[in-house]
Amino acid sequence: MRSNVGMSRYLQVLSAVCFSCGVVAAQAQTVDVAAAEALAKTSNCTKCHSVDKKKDGPSYKDTAAKYKGKADAEATLTKHITTGPKIKIDGVEEQHQIVKTKDPAAIKNLVVYILSR
Ligand code: HEC
Repeated sequence: MRSNVGMSRYLQVLSAVCFSCGVVAAQAQTVDVAAAEALAKTSNCTKCHSVDKKKDGPSYKDTAAKYKGKADAEATLTKHITTGPKIKIDGVEEQHQIVKTKDPAAIKNLVVYILSR
């Protein structure tokens, strides 16, 4: 009897753990395309970037190809769009645009969107 109670408690804990695993895995896969594109627009990213054409900045497809298979891709791009590193456009140095939100989930969504083009 005693061991049965212990067992069902164990299963309860186990299913709680697995439930949150599933949620994390699902989040890693899903991109809210509409939200990503809206944020890119309001942040003026679209002035210099498009999905498949090079403008002043590289296309998202080129960026996705550049970072394909790199474990630090998400971290690198998150830093790029949140810290405003110095870049050169036609030889002129300027600060890269910073994304216009502080919401980490929205920033991550945009980064995953770019990397999955
Ligand atoms: C004024 C033009 C301009 C705007 C606006 C701009 N970018 Fe860029 N972006 C560039 C240029 C130029 C580069 C290439 C920099 C380099 O390779 O040195 C670049 C590079 C990038 C890269 C690739 C970084 C890498 O490590 O390869 C990403 C991703 C990116 N931009 C995303 C964004 C996002 C998201 C926004 C909006 C928040 C944005 N950019 C706004 C010009 C711009």
